[in-house]
Amino acid sequence: DAEYETIRVEQRGRVGWITLDRPEALNALNTQTMRDVVAAAEAFDADEGVGAIVVTGSEKAFAAGADIKEMEQKSGLDMMLTDHFGAWTRFAAVRTPVIAAVSGYALGGGCELALMCDVILASDRAKFGQPEVQLGVIPGMGGTQRLVRALGYYKAAELVLTGRMIDAAEAERAGLVSRVVPAAELLDDAESTARTIAEKPLPALYAAKAALDVALESTLAEGVRFERQAFAALFDTADQKEGMAAFREKRSPSFTHR
Ligand code: CAA
Repeated sequence: DAEYETIRVEQRGRVGWITLDRPEALNALNTQTMRDVVAAAEAFDADEGVGAIVVTGSEKAFAAGADIKEMEQKSGLDMMLTDHFGAWTRFAAVRTPVIAAVSGYALGGGCELALMCDVILASDRAKFGQPEVQLGVIPGMGGTQRLVRALGYYKAAELVLTGRMIDAAEAERAGLVSRVVPAAELLDDAESTARTIAEKPLPALYAAKAALDVALESTLAEGVRFERQAFAALFDTADQKEGMAAFREKRSPSFTHR
């Protein structure tokens, strides 16, 4: 794609695909990759013809982390002044559901990129880990926070403190992935999962993702209040009328994503 240097982008039906493409560096996430991924995700997010986004890498690596060679010589002040990973906040903020299709290494920032997605599909050859302590740093793209919320304190702390890599089966037991699939089926499964999501009414998808996000960020009472409002607001959408009419009339709904 001429627009992007480090990723390939494609739209198939209502699904937008972002494929990390720096094979020489196992898809390590440098500043250009961050810009590319964020720009592509925001472009899909702004397109009402897209109802789900898939982020994937190669069979060998989803992403082996932030680019160590790019960061090595920076000072603490450099990292703060440039807000080195700051733009990833915009990736996490897209309204459209995002599926990570992970094969091979998802380490450091790669694991954290997956954790910013809504569904994580892992091939049985996926490997996850937060090896940053071995480099004298800590996870910097949200890993300490999202892992504790997703796995609980003790599993998260063991991974972050030891830097140990875990395989797909252990990741699934820990609650780090939505589902494990055979490596050969990963992309087909991601495609059909994404399509299943993308066919749903867009207003309901946006509301569902927003409400799920609030669950990670707020108290139970605040979250339930948010959910109730978002739920009520969907009753002013055409797709709610269509979805419920179709149920009553025992037919499949025809959504307009309005
Ligand atoms: N940054 C920069 N380059 C990387 C990289 C990274 N995170 N990971 C791999 N590469 C490069 C290697 O330097 C190598 O390049 P050269 O051929 O020019 O030497 C190329 O990709 C292939 O890698 P290897 O030869 O190391 O491949 P391997 O199969 O022997 O090992 C691996 C694979 C175990 C994943 C190993 O590459 C590795 O340990 N990578 C680093 C993992 C890591 O520490 N990630 C955390 C980064 S810090 C971070 O992510 C901070 C944050 O929280 C955001």
